[in-house]
This record gives sequence, structure tokens and C-alpha cells, in this order.
Amino acid sequence: MRMRRLRRSEALRALVRETAIEPGDLIYPLFICPGEGVRRAVGSMPGVFNVSVDEAVREAEEAARLGVGGLLLFGLPEAKDEQGTGAWEENGIVQQALGALKPLEAGKKMVLIADVCLCEYTSHGHCGVVVESQGGFEVDNDPTLELLARAAVSQATAGADVVAPSDMMDGRIGAIRRALDAAGFGMTPILSYASKFASAFYGPFREAADSAPQFGDRRSYQMDGANLREAMREIDLDIEEGADMILMKPAMPYLDVVRAARERVGVPIGAYQVSGEYSMLQAAFEKGWLEPTRAMLESLVSMRRAGADFIVTYFAKEAAKLLG
Ligand code: PBG
Repeated sequence: MRMRRLRRSEALRALVRETAIEPGDLIYPLFICPGEGVRRAVGSMPGVFNVSVDEAVREAEEAARLGVGGLLLFGLPEAKDEQGTGAWEENGIVQQALGALKPLEAGKKMVLIADVCLCEYTSHGHCGVVVESQGGFEVDNDPTLELLARAAVSQATAGADVVAPSDMMDGRIGAIRRALDAAGFGMTPILSYASKFASAFYGPFREAADSAPQFGDRRSYQMDGANLREAMREIDLDIEEGADMILMKPAMPYLDVVRAARERVGVPIGAYQVSGEYSMLQAAFEKGWLEPTRAMLESLVSMRRAGADFIVTYFAKEAAKLLG
């Protein structure tokens, strides 16, 4: 046997290629901030910006033109408080962006996904309500559920096609499903960040979204990176509670988790190539240590090969240009 026979030309290689990526498989995250004409570079993420709503419209139009499948919206509110009020205000920053994007041609062509979490909106930067407990502090699960549900309903009202809870509170999918149904959004799907690990690779995002915890860390609600079986339990529970799709993150350091999930469940699966994965590659590109185009596409193919149907990535526009 000569395995190399089928590698002799690009035509042969293309014929037997097992995994494909299309622009429509990619979801582009946007960080929406107050103001007009704002396009503020995120230092640790070359090519990523905080954009005001009018600039987000331009980003959306470009992404749609390139065939990108969807947008994932994060918000940097005008003000933060203990409860994360900005997450569910009728005139919240993501709600404003949804209002502007939804009527556009681009807003119809792409899936508009709203990230549901409190950390960008709370003064303490945690993903839920913080209470004192046994001389320390705790992120209080059940009071948080109500706030998350309120945020999801408010985003659906503003025009979100999909809501994507990323907070990792227990029972949030059920709480959000019930609230959406009660508010008349029975047909709005939930993309659950079902297995989200407490990861150092979220570092640059916390600069982009201004959401670093002011004390402590997220290890009491996000998962321990060593645990695969626990990830499967999280996924099972979220699907039981009503998740329509699941998102796994980070992606590259956790491809085994994506593969295991693919073999276990039938729901669509997304992988999130998080900020640190992006920044790490960008840093190597800047130094000339990796070939940008090939390294970027190889990283994305690895996620599809592991079993992800779609990929959330800050490379979405760049990759779509090459794949389109
Ligand atoms: C909010 C949230 C985070 C990310 C997505 N949603 C940050 C965190 O949990 O600290 C990370 C995304 C990235 O790093 O690109 N909870």
C-alpha cells in the first residue's frame, strides 16, 4: 500500500478531503459599546475592536457580505452595578444593537445570537449575584437565575434570534426556557455554553469586555479543566432542561471534549475558539513564527474534525474571505 498515491496533486487531495469549513459555519463575536463612531482597538486582540452600534452595523454588513453565518453580541454598558442591571434593561447596549441590526438585510441573512451573562454588567465582574458567606463570598445560584432569565427575555424582545447563556449557574437553561415560553418566545432557541471550563485562555476577552472579576475567580461556577465526565453531565443536564444547541469552550485545548460530546448527543454542537487562542496565534503571526493563513485555517479545521458543526471565532471574517 502507498498512502501517498492520493496526496500527489491538489485535485486528488481535494477529492478525498474529509472535513470542510464554509463561511456559514462561522460566528463572529462583536463587543458593543456606547457612543457613536467608536472603534476602539483591544490591545491584546489585534484586529478586534469595541464598536458603537453604528460601527457594529458596518461590521455586520461586511460579515454578511462575506457569508459569515452569525454574530455573537457582547455588551459594554454605560454603567455597572451589583445586579448587572445593564444586562436586561430595555435600552441596554446589546438590546440597542439588536434593534439596529434586526431590520437590516444583514440581520436577516445572519443569525443574531445574544450572549446571556452578568459579568460584563456587574460592578464586581462575577457572572451572578454575590453574597457574603462563611466569612468569604459566594456567587448565589438561584437569585441569579431570575436575572439571567430576565436578560434573555429582554434580548429576545429586542430581536435576538438565539440566546446563549455563558454563566454556568445550575438550572439556568430550564429557568430561561420557562421565562422565554411565558413571554411568548416559545420559538426562540437556546444555545447553551454547556461545557465551559474555568480557563486562562479567557484573559484577553476580559480586556475586550471589561469583565474581569474584581476579587476571587470563576472556579466555583466554571468547570475544572481536568474533568471530561463532568462535562458530559453538564451537557446531559442542559439538554434535559431544554438546550437546543450546545457550545463547548475553549476549543483547541479541549478538542477531546468536543469529540466526546459529538459521539454522545444529537443536538448541534459549536466550538468557541476563545480570545486567548486567537491572541496566541496573532502573537505568533506578528513575530513571523507561524504562517497566518495556514495556521488559522488549520486551527478551525481541527474543531470541525473534532465534531463541531459551527465555530465561534474572532477570525470569522478573515477565514470567510479565504473560504468564500
Ligand atoms: C462571559 C463570557 C466569557 C467568554 C464568553 N462569555 C468570559 C468569562 O467567562 O470570563 C470568553 C470568551 C473568550 O475568551 O473569547 N461569561
